[in-house]
Amino acid sequence: MKIGILTSGGDCPGLNAVIRGAVLKGDKIYGHQFVGFRWGWRGVVEGDFIDLPRHRVRGLSKEGGTILGSSRTNPYEGERGGPENIQRMLDENGIDAIIAIGGEGTLTAARRLADEGLHIVGVPKTIDNDLEATDYSFGFDTAVGIATEAIDRLRTTAESHQRCMVVEVMGRYVGWIALHAGMAGGAHAILIPEQPQSIEQICDWVQQVRDRGRAPVVCVSEGFRLTTMDEAYSHKGLDAFNRPLLGGIAEIIAPMIEERTGIESRATVIGHVQRGGAPSAFDRVLATRLGLAAVDAVDAGQWGTMVSLRGTEVIDVSITDATRRLNTVPPHRYEEAKLLFG
Ligand code: F6P
Repeated sequence: MKIGILTSGGDCPGLNAVIRGAVLKGDKIYGHQFVGFRWGWRGVVEGDFIDLPRHRVRGLSKEGGTILGSSRTNPYEGERGGPENIQRMLDENGIDAIIAIGGEGTLTAARRLADEGLHIVGVPKTIDNDLEATDYSFGFDTAVGIATEAIDRLRTTAESHQRCMVVEVMGRYVGWIALHAGMAGGAHAILIPEQPQSIEQICDWVQQVRDRGRAPVVCVSEGFRLTTMDEAYSHKGLDAFNRPLLGGIAEIIAPMIEERTGIESRATVIGHVQRGGAPSAFDRVLATRLGLAAVDAVDAGQWGTMVSLRGTEVIDVSITDATRRLNTVPPHRYEEAKLLFG
């Protein structure tokens, strides 16, 4: 078999480890050949790919980013997009199947294409951890580690100046990164999309910390909204899947805290640092296992499925199940963290 691999959507640490795992098992156990599509779905639509022999994936599990490049191209758009065109390109190049490594947008497109008869298996990837049907996605652990380190560092400068620090992390419409990094870093308030809060409540938590002589640290998820807001804050337009690009809520909240409490406040948006650099050991292992399992799924012709982590086991699930709704933070997990606020 000749298998094409693509990495699409926002990159995340661990993508290269999936590619390596898939190529090593495919080569060693099944004798499959591999090609890598350049720039996500764009490479599929344009027939742009490179050979991926075994020696090309040597030492890759520790490398951040993706050797194939990524983009947020929608495979249904453009003159050469859509299932018929893509199938023709695959046939012309003798490519039998695609392993699509991506997040919600990528996997939704993969599911649609698989429903149209294309041979596609998915691998979940996202620092946001927002996909149903997988307990964790690789990239999340690394992002939490980076955000936690940022909080630790901001805490020392906050204490020196007796300032309030509002630290914004990524996560789109789910608060997993904020919840975990906030708990790990000992934030005095964690603000997540699933749990809108009033500015009065936030200031109350901040003031309690100041009254104890401490410098308050607030960890806010980019998708958080105040109770007075109808939607998450977005000022950067839409991505290729027509989803708002989020970011900047910390810059809104910090001055509001300062104005209401009189405590000097600063906003820090960690941004893409959370997606860069080497994956954590946990993410390297998870990503490698998913790559190994993806090749098994291809070999078994499990089209339209996605490999996923359940407990400690890697299993196949339907992409439909994984993309039906977001994996949000359950209320009891927030209540647990809330005991530590203020
Ligand atoms: O989905 C991953 C993610 O990093 C989100 O947390 C964030 O909102 C978005 O991608 C940023 O997208 P971009 O890389 O296009 O700025």
